[in-house]
Amino acid sequence: MEKILQNLKKEALENIQKIESPEKLYALEVEFLGKKGRLTDILKGIKDLSTEEKKVVGALSNTIKKDLEEAFSNKKTELEKEKLAKELKTEFFDTTIPSPESQIGHIHPLAQLQKEIEDIFSSMGFSIMDGPEVESEHYNFNSLNIPDDHPARDMQDTFFIKNKSSKEEGRLLMRTQTSPVQVRTMQKYGAPLRIIVPGRTFRNEATDAKHEMTFSQVEGLLIDKNISIGTLKGIMQEALSAIMKKETVIRLRPGYFPFVEPGLELDFRCVFCNGKGCKTCKHEGWIEIAGAGMVHKNVLIAGNIDPKEYQGWAFGIGFERLAMMRYEIPDIRYFLSGDLRFIKQF
Ligand code: FA5
Repeated sequence: MEKILQNLKKEALENIQKIESPEKLYALEVEFLGKKGRLTDILKGIKDLSTEEKKVVGALSNTIKKDLEEAFSNKKTELEKEKLAKELKTEFFDTTIPSPESQIGHIHPLAQLQKEIEDIFSSMGFSIMDGPEVESEHYNFNSLNIPDDHPARDMQDTFFIKNKSSKEEGRLLMRTQTSPVQVRTMQKYGAPLRIIVPGRTFRNEATDAKHEMTFSQVEGLLIDKNISIGTLKGIMQEALSAIMKKETVIRLRPGYFPFVEPGLELDFRCVFCNGKGCKTCKHEGWIEIAGAGMVHKNVLIAGNIDPKEYQGWAFGIGFERLAMMRYEIPDIRYFLSGDLRFIKQF
């Protein structure tokens, strides 16, 4: 049997040498080493040998199998190299042709706008602040004069983080507004303050052309002595005209937010219908883009600022709605749709 195995090896190696194509090589490999190949066939006879012979023949057949596998693999590499060399010789390959154009990404329209807003407010002396997107109930609500069970909590349908809470700060949640950064900044830097806070916010909302579940706001906060709504109106008019790159029509009307007194809503005249009324503005002619007002004294106290000495105003602008006005985008859901046909326009 040993002799038969050695002969098989010899024959296989001789045949491998003669092979000229990968296809024929594969067929030869199947013939010798395949499941129903010649080596397997020979090994079927092992069962009739003595124990001593079985040991010797078993070891030999393993070695032969390994040797042949190696020989087939080496030949395969050799044939591939030959094929490539032939192709390079016969086919003209112009190494000077430029590679296919690669796709270069660019900054998302919301990020572009954020940078511009930061520049505009920086030029008016505002600092840019940041705060956590996973917030505590304390900063998102209580410190903003919205105690537990206050009906104003229902105005912002909140995503809570399961099983996460602390005694001091209550449950953890996805912040519903950028306003919690007001108190965080007051506690850290004290008065006077002049900041904006651009960032993501989250609400469990049914989406439509003007509402998303994940959207962005820019909070503004100015705290100093002798501050009035007059400066708020002036700065908003100035900043919004710079953002829109043209004189903008805004209106202020009374609004309710527990953390300001008095409170205001800031509306933009709808750019889609010029105030006549359309689907996007729900036939109102105006689109609400910000809440604002004079900072409530309880909020100043939560931020360790003496309300007798300092006053301030704050605003919170809906970022996407601003971008919608500027670029005349009729539906807020385009921004996070990931649709390249939309993104490539900016
Ligand atoms: C607030 O979030 C207040 N924190 C704003 C504020 C700040 C008031 C400081 C007073 C002082 P409101 O829920 O109205 O307010 O949201 C502010 C703006 O965010 C809205 O005017 C709107 O432009 C935008 N906004 C609110 N909800 C959504 C939503 N689901 N999708 C897109 N934009 C939204």
